[in-house]
Amino acid sequence: MKKIQIINGPNLNLLGKREPTIYGDSSFESFLEKLRNQYPDCEISYFQSNMEGEMINKIHETGFNYDGIILNAGAYTHTSIALHDAIKAVTTPVVEVHISNVHAREEFRHHSMISAACKGVILGFGLESYRLAIESFRPVDY
Ligand code: DQA
Repeated sequence: MKKIQIINGPNLNLLGKREPTIYGDSSFESFLEKLRNQYPDCEISYFQSNMEGEMINKIHETGFNYDGIILNAGAYTHTSIALHDAIKAVTTPVVEVHISNVHAREEFRHHSMISAACKGVILGFGLESYRLAIESFRPVDY
């Protein structure tokens, strides 16, 4: 059983209501239910916070004993050296995800402070970005 932690950052508690043309009209909770059903071989934990320090605490808490962390840091992606350092400090691989294609949006979203510390980045596929991140923790044998 793979243990995977999803961490969503600021304003992502409003998914479904927040700018639906960009972020879609599904709440994260209803998406998560489907995701868990789709991956019975994974134990998927979920945490959302609007506070940077709480996100850092969750990375510390799960960063040594989980198989993977999927992190959508929201706007902190573009500003947070502290999140970059937290990702570097732990041993669990962290995959950065974004719902929207940040490179097709405002210029201030083009730079990520956390990408260089992450194992990889998946963005622009809507909520599907999270499922693709789960797949990245389930490598296939070629
Ligand atoms: C986001 C993109 C960020 O630029 C933005 O601040 C968010 C959501 C995304 O998932 O597309 O809050 O991370």
